Amino acid sequence: MRYGYFDDANREYVITRPDTPLPWINYLGMQDYFSLISNTAGGYAFYQDARLRRITRYRYNNVPLDMGGRYIYLRDSASGEFWSPTWMPTRHNAEDYSCRHGLGYSLIGSTYRGIRADVRYFVPLDAPLEIWDLTLENLSRTPRRLSLFSSVEFCLWEALDDATNFQRNLNIGEVEVEGSVIYHKTEYRERRNHFAYFACSEPLEGFETQRDAFLGPYRGWENPQAVESDQTTHSLSVGWYPVGVHHLRLTLAPKTKQRVIFLLGYHENLPDWKFSPHDTMNVNKRTLVPIIQKYLDHQEVDQAFEALRSSWDERLGVLQVQTPVEHVDRMVNIWNAYQCMVTFNLSRSASYFESGIGRGMGFRDSNQDLLGFVQMVPDRARQRILDLAATQLENGGAYHQYQPLTKRGNDAVGGNFNDDPAWLVLSTAAYLKETGDWGILEEAVPFENQSGTESPLLEHLQRCIQYTLDRIGPHRLPLIGRADWNDCLNLNTFSDQPGESFQTTTNRDGNVAESVVIAALFIMAAKELAQIMSHLGRVEESDQLQGRAEDMAETIKRYGWDGEWFLRAYDHFGRLIGSKRNKEGQIFIEPQGLCTMAGVGVKEGAAKKALKAVNRHLATDHGILLLQPAYSQYYLHLGEISSYPPGYKENASIFCHTNPWVMIAEAILGNGDQALDYYLRINPSEREAISDLHRCEPYVYAQTIAGIDGPSFGEAKNSWLTGTAAWNFVGITQWILGIRPDYEGLRVEPVLPSGWDGFTAKRKFRGVNYQIDVRRKGRGKKIALTVDGQPIEGTLIPSPSGDKVTVKVTIG
Ligand code: GLC
Ligand code: GLC
Repeated sequence: MRYGYFDDANREYVITRPDTPLPWINYLGMQDYFSLISNTAGGYAFYQDARLRRITRYRYNNVPLDMGGRYIYLRDSASGEFWSPTWMPTRHNAEDYSCRHGLGYSLIGSTYRGIRADVRYFVPLDAPLEIWDLTLENLSRTPRRLSLFSSVEFCLWEALDDATNFQRNLNIGEVEVEGSVIYHKTEYRERRNHFAYFACSEPLEGFETQRDAFLGPYRGWENPQAVESDQTTHSLSVGWYPVGVHHLRLTLAPKTKQRVIFLLGYHENLPDWKFSPHDTMNVNKRTLVPIIQKYLDHQEVDQAFEALRSSWDERLGVLQVQTPVEHVDRMVNIWNAYQCMVTFNLSRSASYFESGIGRGMGFRDSNQDLLGFVQMVPDRARQRILDLAATQLENGGAYHQYQPLTKRGNDAVGGNFNDDPAWLVLSTAAYLKETGDWGILEEAVPFENQSGTESPLLEHLQRCIQYTLDRIGPHRLPLIGRADWNDCLNLNTFSDQPGESFQTTTNRDGNVAESVVIAALFIMAAKELAQIMSHLGRVEESDQLQGRAEDMAETIKRYGWDGEWFLRAYDHFGRLIGSKRNKEGQIFIEPQGLCTMAGVGVKEGAAKKALKAVNRHLATDHGILLLQPAYSQYYLHLGEISSYPPGYKENASIFCHTNPWVMIAEAILGNGDQALDYYLRINPSEREAISDLHRCEPYVYAQTIAGIDGPSFGEAKNSWLTGTAAWNFVGITQWILGIRPDYEGLRVEPVLPSGWDGFTAKRKFRGVNYQIDVRRKGRGKKIALTVDGQPIEGTLIPSPSGDKVTVKVTIG
């Protein structure tokens, strides 16, 4: 069943009943200020770093799950009845509830006993604040006297400390109230130069800043004492639990509307200008006042909203397609691209599955995310590559994670994930192909952020390759180290202590266990670097790299092939993993997709066999499983992968990140039907109809869908922050639709599904608008291109002279 519908014209998903199986969330903010907002106005906000600069509080493992957020209460003064237009937290059965999640905004509203209330939540492009733009309308025939309460609960900045260190924190909370603005200034008296504020466009009847004064000590958000009694006490928080609550009284004449604006924001002052007057502890508001004034103005708010909408027109305008399948169009043109931008912004830090207090930015994750957003924000992609490269170690390896605020490698997690370096080559290659900005290769980038170690990015890439060559195992395959792409295949860990981290524990020296996945990634990376060298005229180095890639391909054919599919790895004892000789874990998805993408066995038919095996052993109606048979028990020599119950996470779920590798592999072999079929099995929009099973949002990908071995087969988990977003975008747009940036220009090489007559696309590429029209003219697969009416050889469009190009492609 469905809980809403797609409104493609407005680029919104409209949720029409509030009790979705899980909170269905959205993200506000693109630069520094970020908010998570659920379909019932739950969630929280932070500035830049979800752990270190948390603005509002969020309770993990809460009951119910999504309680606390951006709640507004309306109280009818005549009846004393109160409710929330966003359904939570009071859960009244309002009429016409809807939540429109759009790109960077959410609109939530409902009607209750003749009062319509709509809140538009968004973060403007150019200020670190979120706007709650509330419109009330009296639909009834009588005048209505209402009380209105807003509410947020402030976090004392460091989110982990906030949730644990009560002996200090219950003493430090501080606020200030001036006019209709509540300032949250905990620790501002000492080392913080920043504070939060919560402003309202209307004069106040009253306010609260002490949580207990608002809720009452034995109540929750669903029935605050202040709302029930219609009284606020002007509490000023010193210590305990600072909140921000505005209390307004309004009278609405019949059939009239009133707009009320709230701003929740973050502000920094210069260290010498923190206080005003100087000798007090009062916040100096001089630089903030104009910002507040601006965004409390209705017209300014409308303009800011329009500016936000147009920024998305521009970003999404880079690629728009029209195909026979609405699930393709909707995901490519709107939601998949949007999710890619969210993964760019948030990496894996803050979602309803990532607490924002855990990991930093992953090296491999961020490099892969880039594949999905580079076309939308090339400048920021450039910076991301340079930031990532600056955390590379001198030996070519990488810190597995880095902290976005400091941009430094994370010592606690360290390195030795032996696949990491290959991803830097692949992301840089994608950047070069998109932009043609060869200058990036000359950028001086340090190792480990140490000044004095700067060397050109190109040398970083060379060291990435060398890193693998320096770590070759007994079968001449790359050593796996702590893990490869699959974080949970821990072949050197041998952990028998509860709670020990599988990723950072190493109990074996690691000179035996080898990875076929890294071998495939190495081939891909070496081939890319060979092409880069060749472009730079460094022929000898190019040939050498090509040779290394070929050697590795031979090694895979010799030691990485199991007869019907590619092996996964060799364990610490040199035994096979991912082989029909194993009892469990006989076949893994990753090497089948990646080896084919690397070109291994494509000519000889091995790749074809491997993909057939995928289809036979791993493909299900809900997507392709990571492995089969699932591990039924914990194996010391395999690590975390066998720690999960069968069917979940790396132990044989449908790990959606890997599915596009198989789609791409199928496309490489020319099987458009099979590729599209796999694409649609995990396409969120296609799965909308089974929302009660899928449970996660139907507009974004989730990391996993429970596999056939689990009791909830088909149920998704961990939506939003996953490499699935980037890879599916690449899979459908570059390989199935075949619109693929290349070093010397744009390539158009669709692998058209047999049921399609064709499709059209608009692509902006290096400042040129390409209008692409693909038509089927027969049953065959032969591709012919004309560019502005002239037939060309092959599928690479030569650099155009103008800024518009018409490309006609016929297939048949
Ligand atoms: C998670 C990690 C990613 C890893 C994958 C498989 O998605 O973020 O780095 O490759 O799991 O273990
Ligand atoms: C766990 C997860 C894996 C993720 C890793 C990150 O191992 O199963 O998906 O990559 O944590 O540290």
